[in-house]
Amino acid sequence: MKPVRKAIIPVAGYGTRVLPATKSIPKELLPLVDRPLIDYVVSEAFEAGIEHVVLVTGRGKGAIEDYFDYAFELEAGLEAKNKTAILESVRQPIAKAGAISFTRQQAPLGLGHAIWCARDIIGDEPFAVSLPDVVVTGRPSALAQMVGEYTRTGGNIIAVEEVAKEDTNKYGIVAPKAERNSALFEMSGMVEKPAPEKAPSNLAITGRYILQPEIFALLEKTPRGAGGEIQLTDAMDALMREQPFFAYEYEGESHDCGDKLGWLKANVSLALQNDEFSSALSDFLKQKVN
Ligand code: UTP
Repeated sequence: MKPVRKAIIPVAGYGTRVLPATKSIPKELLPLVDRPLIDYVVSEAFEAGIEHVVLVTGRGKGAIEDYFDYAFELEAGLEAKNKTAILESVRQPIAKAGAISFTRQQAPLGLGHAIWCARDIIGDEPFAVSLPDVVVTGRPSALAQMVGEYTRTGGNIIAVEEVAKEDTNKYGIVAPKAERNSALFEMSGMVEKPAPEKAPSNLAITGRYILQPEIFALLEKTPRGAGGEIQLTDAMDALMREQPFFAYEYEGESHDCGDKLGWLKANVSLALQNDEFSSALSDFLKQKVN
């Protein structure tokens, strides 16, 4: 079994749900407490043992590349002023030379199409996909937990988490193959946004995947689906007929930062867990709600 060495992070979408904030900056650079969203997901990938991250970028997303580059004037200025702690935080996102690649999706034709754009860089090996607007907390990280499971099972793995039964119509929901009795279980299908009475479970797909390279040939044949986009879900459905497919209920909490309220909640939630801000912020919130 080949190890999972590479991860695709698609960043070419328009981020329409968070406009106008994303009119002139990429959604993936929106700050979450003190770092941009993309920093969380790239760090999560490297911490999970990923050796090479492929960012699928697009028009207007150049600032994301700069974030992972050496900022000569800024660093020289901070160094001259002896601002060591800030300097360290600025240097942190820079990965080992050659460990991040950028490829372009010329038009945002859907998540499936974005993944397909990375096919040549991935080649013939399993890979992870992490959606940068889904920030997941928990130690070890969700992706690290999945890579651990993968070494035992192989195949394809989708991260899932429990949602309230009445909310199934907001998510992609997985169907377990049989009665499940562990965090990792084989699945028989996925349903996009089912009504609660029709939902095969209350386990929602959460933005972390481990996939086999055969998905690329299927994506190539996948016609435009929901919303006129080439959907990753459609290609995964086809792959499920050929290969083992697992869902994994990871330990941790996810935040949907691609949505205004989700982003606000994520900021409050993560800031309350941050030593620098937790006490002052919780005092402030208490005053405001009383
Ligand atoms: P989303 O659907 O959450 O992002 O895709 P979006 O399309 O930017 O957002 P809305 O729906 O318009 O508000 C999840 C991730 O996939 C990327 C996005 O950039 C985001 O990080 N994506 C999506 C692409 O790279 N290409 C696409 O064609 C679509």
